Amino acid sequence: MTAPARSIAEIPGDERTLTVLRERALAVMDRAYAPYSRFRVGAALLGTDGSITEGCNMENAAFPVGMCAERNALAAAVARGLRTFDTILIATEADDPTPPCGLCRQALEEFAPNLVVWSVTRDGRNARWTLEELLPRAFTSRSLDRT
Ligand code: THU
Repeated sequence: MTAPARSIAEIPGDERTLTVLRERALAVMDRAYAPYSRFRVGAALLGTDGSITEGCNMENAAFPVGMCAERNALAAAVARGLRTFDTILIATEADDPTPPCGLCRQALEEFAPNLVVWSVTRDGRNARWTLEELLPRAFTSRSLDRT
């Protein structure tokens, strides 16, 4: 049995910020280019400066060239000069909230090991994790230290 849908505004936290992140992620999800999988994803990334940067998935006829919404949002934010983030909110059209893929977890770890990850569906279901929960024992820049 699935949990009843709850508005994200019922979830403890900075409710206004979460509401805005949800609106922005759902809006950018509608602009996703996903003709092959028909699985549209939107991501809204909250910088520690309070800014929000969005990304959507963008597929390609050469399938591996496609890019996830989360990494597109991250790249756009880095290009704007941002390197520290508090929260990412992911929106999909799935029935249940979906976590980010492994590649996106690793990409986010580089900039935001303490990130909070929300995932929402159009009908109001949501889930929340920490990146630490999703990617324990991550490979980081410290893993490259040889001294
Ligand atoms: N996708 C994302 O954008 N983010 C994820 O974390 C998982 C998958 C995209 C990639 C592809 O365009 C489609 O969803 C189906 O895998």
